[in-house]
Amino acid sequence: MSTCDSKLLVRPVEIRDAESITVLLEEVISDGRFTIMESAGTVDDQISFIRGLPVRSSYVAAVSESRILGIQDVLPFSEEPALLHVGEISTFVAARAHRSGVGRALAAETFERAKACGFRKLRANIRKDNKAALAYYRSLGFETVGVAREHARVDGKYLDEVITECFLR
Ligand SMILES: CC(C)(COP(=O)(O)OP(=O)(O)OC[C@H]1O[C@@H](n2cnc3c(N)ncnc32)[C@H](O)[C@@H]1OP(=O)(O)O)[C@@H](O)C(=O)NCCC(=O)NCCS
Repeated sequence: MSTCDSKLLVRPVEIRDAESITVLLEEVISDGRFTIMESAGTVDDQISFIRGLPVRSSYVAAVSESRILGIQDVLPFSEEPALLHVGEISTFVAARAHRSGVGRALAAETFERAKACGFRKLRANIRKDNKAALAYYRSLGFETVGVAREHARVDGKYLDEVITECFLR
């Protein structure tokens, strides 16, 4: 576990977080600008997700005064033996906490956990129009390795996705 300031704690997600996480995801998705996800799913879906996490994975929450401000997960990119060293990362921070170091604190914990899981590099797919996320991942050391054109169809529009990756040292 790590702390960014005296109030912020980054710790593994627990089952009791499922409702808060669902609300957070609904907030981010309903904004419409950040993710290709169309639904946060139900609280039960989130509970199933937490319970079903692979052994080689990381799922952490940034918590301040008992409120979840952000979440970040790393899941195996593939179960194909040749690709076991690659993890796929996702990050969601509540709008009220943007640009206050929550994402950076999540990543500090996630990177250590991902290394401990045996991942050697992380990959993030980011909507090309999501400038904040592109800047965030760049600030963590992610580099663009390509653009998947018209990769996602959201609200009837085809969107490009930027493929980025970062080696864990
Ligand atoms: C992208 C996101 C995770 C960043 O989280 P955050 O907690 O706001 O980021 P931090 O405050 O830790 O910022 C870390 C660094 O990222 C960069 N950064 C983050 N947001 C930025 C923005 N809007 N513009 C420019 N740079 C930005 C900066 O370099 C920043 O460091 P600085 O503040 O010292 O300059 C957050 O905006 C978010 O959850 N957005 C909605 C969901 C989303 O887009 N997820 C990613 C989907 S791929």
